[in-house]
Amino acid sequence: MGLLEVGRTHDCGALHLEHTGEEVILMGWVDAWRDLGGRRFIDLRDRGGVTQVVFGQELDAELDAKARRLRHEWVIAVRGRVDDRVANGGTVNRQLATGAIEVRALELEILTESETPPFEIKDDVNAAEELRLKYRYLDLRRQTMQRNLIQRHRFNQAVREFMDSEGFLELETPFLIRSTPEGARDYVVPSRVHPNTFYALPQSPQLFKQLFMVAGYDRYFQIARCFRDEDLRADRQPEFTQIDMEMSFATVDSVLGVIEGLMVHTFKKVLDVDIETPFPRIEYADAMERFGSDAPDLRFGMELRRVDDLVINSDFGVFTGTLEAGGAVKGICLQGGGDWSRKQIENLIEIVKPYGAKGLAWTKVIEDGFQGGIARFFTGDAATGLRQRLEAESGDLMLFVADKEKVVNASLNALRKHLAAQLGLADPKVFPFCWVTRFPLFERDEDTGALLSSHHPFTAPEESDPAVLEADPVGLPSQAYDLVLNGYELGSGSIRIHQREMQEAIFRVLGLSPAEQQEKFGFLLDAFRYGPPPHGGIALGVDRLVMLMVGAQSIPEVIAFPKTLRAQDLMLQAPGRIDEVQLDELHLAFKAQED
Ligand code: AMO
Ligand code: AMP
Repeated sequence: MGLLEVGRTHDCGALHLEHTGEEVILMGWVDAWRDLGGRRFIDLRDRGGVTQVVFGQELDAELDAKARRLRHEWVIAVRGRVDDRVANGGTVNRQLATGAIEVRALELEILTESETPPFEIKDDVNAAEELRLKYRYLDLRRQTMQRNLIQRHRFNQAVREFMDSEGFLELETPFLIRSTPEGARDYVVPSRVHPNTFYALPQSPQLFKQLFMVAGYDRYFQIARCFRDEDLRADRQPEFTQIDMEMSFATVDSVLGVIEGLMVHTFKKVLDVDIETPFPRIEYADAMERFGSDAPDLRFGMELRRVDDLVINSDFGVFTGTLEAGGAVKGICLQGGGDWSRKQIENLIEIVKPYGAKGLAWTKVIEDGFQGGIARFFTGDAATGLRQRLEAESGDLMLFVADKEKVVNASLNALRKHLAAQLGLADPKVFPFCWVTRFPLFERDEDTGALLSSHHPFTAPEESDPAVLEADPVGLPSQAYDLVLNGYELGSGSIRIHQREMQEAIFRVLGLSPAEQQEKFGFLLDAFRYGPPPHGGIALGVDRLVMLMVGAQSIPEVIAFPKTLRAQDLMLQAPGRIDEVQLDELHLAFKAQED
């Protein structure tokens, strides 16, 4: 009987001193080898970890000869005896969970050989990103990737445990649907049976989950795949995963309560970290005022302070001119920044420029006033006022941007985050969640001036009278909320509209004619005729959450088979062409033929 048939006794991370003397069978990949004093030491790797296996001529010459053939990534099975490394004259390897023992080989089977991989399988791999994505199955052998995906698994399991315990049903919803409006472009799938028509892949299960509520399912959740054809970034993939949930008879408090419980449970299970509840709630307008962002990072201070009233009468034309033109002036205080050089400070302009800032005004705080930069414009009471507003002390550095409110906020938000990262103030191991609430119901499209839903058109306004809403919709607050952690929007949700009249009023504000409403959302408006319960919910981005949990820098580090920023799968070479027969069946022809 071969070792494969006898079976593995342990994984490569399982053996410790208490196993000394036991005979074991391990299987895995050859990670590395060293030759020392006539012995060959093989690092054997599997999902569980790495174990050192020892061969030697004087131990078993035939076995030793076989072991000397082994190369990187060969797959082997080893039977051997667990030995105490120290008793064998070695030392404990503290980098390895199994570092106190080694396995003295008694039998070796080569299960498969491997060609030399295109890059070394190690955590500090320096191969090009494209190469690693092309051979993703090799990249996934790296310990960090395995650890990340195992954490992702544990997170999903903990989610299921908790949601089940709270009475949520895990229900699936279709992928082949009509477009649901979530603000991005749809991925579409041509229909073979119905010429010239297309399915859309869901941007989220939004409408289905609301219909589950109408259908009386009370509490629904799903770990749902969503598809959005939008510009990609480090925290955005074209397909991504949500924990999508909806509950009937819901209030803002009841939805937020469930999600706070979910975060407590999952962080405890996955990271053994205690998350404090309730999470602070910050209204949207306050978040913009204090952080310049609706996704504030609460791990550090440096809050933005508006100084319009303190600078309006100054002689600094940049500030007064901006205010006269209807703009704003805000500043932040960098504690201890007084020892930064002029050059260091002026280089910070590069951080705010991409956000439209035309400059970055600064001054240092000293015992009896300001020094450098715009100091000469602010003396006496003006200096005292600014210093108090920014809670600055002698030895600090104050930085200001004057521009349109939007530019000021975006610039100082970026600067605040940049400074925190540079100074190491953003500890990846702390998790100060918060809620951002009372988002405006509508925002204006910058190009067309048309009103758009800030969240989506099913979000309930605070105003309950459709006529009042329709008369003056701009600036009205909604019952939408975001879950925010460390500068990331982790989730978005809302209490929904469940009255037909209100839903129709919202569609009208968004410029949908009765015919368009019927064509796009007839099924929803119809459903609202038959006793829809009040309901609300939220969806959390699993990829972003797991990214923050494991301390990764981007979501591809926690997605097994991600796409590039150009939405390609380099391993599959997707998207790819389809053949003429398929095209014909789908009633499609290329518009432009390639040369
Ligand atoms: P929303 O569109 O805000 O809401 O999405 C919810 C959360 O999903 C995550 N997310 C993404 N993650 C990775 N890549 C992307 N391209 C991407 N887009 C979104 C974010 C985001 O907070 N149906 C509503 C939810 C509801 O109202 O219940 C919705 O989808 O973490
Ligand atoms: P200037 O008068 O253009 O030489 O600018 C004087 C100082 O004000 C410089 O430090 C500029 O970086 C800064 N500055 C210029 N425009 C702005 C602005 N819109 N907001 C903040 N600081 C600015």
